[in-house]
Amino acid sequence: MEKISVKLPSLADAKRRSKQPSNIERVNYDLPEYVKNIGVNRKYYLRTYGCQANERDSETISGLLEQMNFERTTKPEDADFLLFNTCAIRANAENKVFGEIGQLKRLKVNNPDIIFGICGCMVQEEVVVDKILKQYDQIDLIFGTHNIHRFPQLLYNAMMSKERTVEVFSKEGEIIENLPVNRFNNYKAWVNIMYGCDKFCTYCIVPYTRGKQRSRLMEDIINEVKELKEKGYKEITLLGQNVNAYGKDLNMEDGFADLLEQVAKVGVERIRFSTSHPKDFSIKMVEVMRDNKNIMPFLHLPVQSGNNEILRKMARGYTVEHYKMLFDELKKNIPNIAFSTDMIVGFPNETEEQFQDTLKLVEYCQFDFAFLFIYSPRVGTPAAKMEDSIDEKTKSRRLKELNEKVASYANLKNQAYLNKVVKVLVDGKSKKNDKVYSGYSEENKLVNFTGENIKTGDIVDVLITEIRSWSMNGEKVER
Ligand code: SAH
Ligand code: SF4
Ligand code: F3S
Repeated sequence: MEKISVKLPSLADAKRRSKQPSNIERVNYDLPEYVKNIGVNRKYYLRTYGCQANERDSETISGLLEQMNFERTTKPEDADFLLFNTCAIRANAENKVFGEIGQLKRLKVNNPDIIFGICGCMVQEEVVVDKILKQYDQIDLIFGTHNIHRFPQLLYNAMMSKERTVEVFSKEGEIIENLPVNRFNNYKAWVNIMYGCDKFCTYCIVPYTRGKQRSRLMEDIINEVKELKEKGYKEITLLGQNVNAYGKDLNMEDGFADLLEQVAKVGVERIRFSTSHPKDFSIKMVEVMRDNKNIMPFLHLPVQSGNNEILRKMARGYTVEHYKMLFDELKKNIPNIAFSTDMIVGFPNETEEQFQDTLKLVEYCQFDFAFLFIYSPRVGTPAAKMEDSIDEKTKSRRLKELNEKVASYANLKNQAYLNKVVKVLVDGKSKKNDKVYSGYSEENKLVNFTGENIKTGDIVDVLITEIRSWSMNGEKVER
């Protein structure tokens, strides 16, 4: 058994970027003999917060747990091992996690043998680990986003040594290929194409929690996609914090457009990707999206603000004019494309005029959907050091105003679908009514519908009969 020593995260190290290319390690993943059976007759409970990167990491963690012979449970009360895979993007995401760890302390009081772990982006933060070590003695195991491959040994250590096991690396690790994966869905899959982010938008914590940008090799990605196709997957989403910068660390020019074209050729029915950054989005990308029918006519293109001065302070690296140019180019080439975006209100010292510019951009783009956030200062980021004269009430009012505008355009955009037929990938029965099914159209519209002979994972034609702002209703029709 390996001796594990405590390794704490360091903000100073997380800020550093080395020039060295990342090693790719091809593990022939075989668990160390001593951890193989630690899950026999034991159950695990895994809760995931945050973005798809975390969901995909949880699929790896779950794959590892199942190799250790743990069985999954959806009830915390039944678990011998509880793990929270956390998100650090905004303060309210973190507060939720702290609240829930607090609530589950009672389980530990009833059964002191339970192992309680926390991993993911939050524990990459120095301040968070410090707080957990001081205030949350129910936590036995802490590991970060760069050492998931070491999780079995770390869990073993936490179970056997009865000491707190803490191992967080602040420098990005190698790319580890061939880790086991327990995919939570058998018709939609998420495929990492890169890890980390080098954009350092001034408000964002991700470059510190996920490390330097590291792209996987194209052949490894294509092989994974081919394997998924053979298994019958209908939809694949390529994942990265900034997918349009794919391959820049491998000296590729426009690597993402090439990758996307190759992935499309594999022939999976639906291909999506997330997240795109306007600065790196190339004109060739527009052509690849236009020319491949299995790349879905939908783009999530976060703009963050409609004002150039705020964009500059955010270090986004593009102007509103550039964003509109891209938007127009996409609309011209792919007339049925749907758009969503992310926007932040209340960035430090955002004036009323600057906020109005964001409203104007919404009027221009008429987004199908948008995720809206109030700016949340994150320790260690440049924006957190900026003085801010805008009070919380003003920020909340702006969020409400922006939300109303976004909702009205979302409704307007959906109106165009009335009496039309869309193709829906069925996700299953609706939670509220078991006669109603739900799924997403090619344009990423949420559709609730009725009909006969419908199976989860099918792609069906649905006639749209009723419109709402955030969804549409319809009936299945025969092709
Ligand atoms: N890599 C993606 C998204 C990362 S986080 C991208 O660049 O688009 C998802 C969204 O959260 C961001 O687009 C941004 O709108 C929001 N966000 C990130 N940091 C934030 C912060 N400190 N406060 C409020 N919103 C934030
Ligand atoms: Fe954060 Fe910007 Fe990177 Fe997106 S591109 S993850 S917002 S730093
Ligand atoms: Fe959250 Fe980390 Fe994703 S901070 S949004 S889980 S990369």
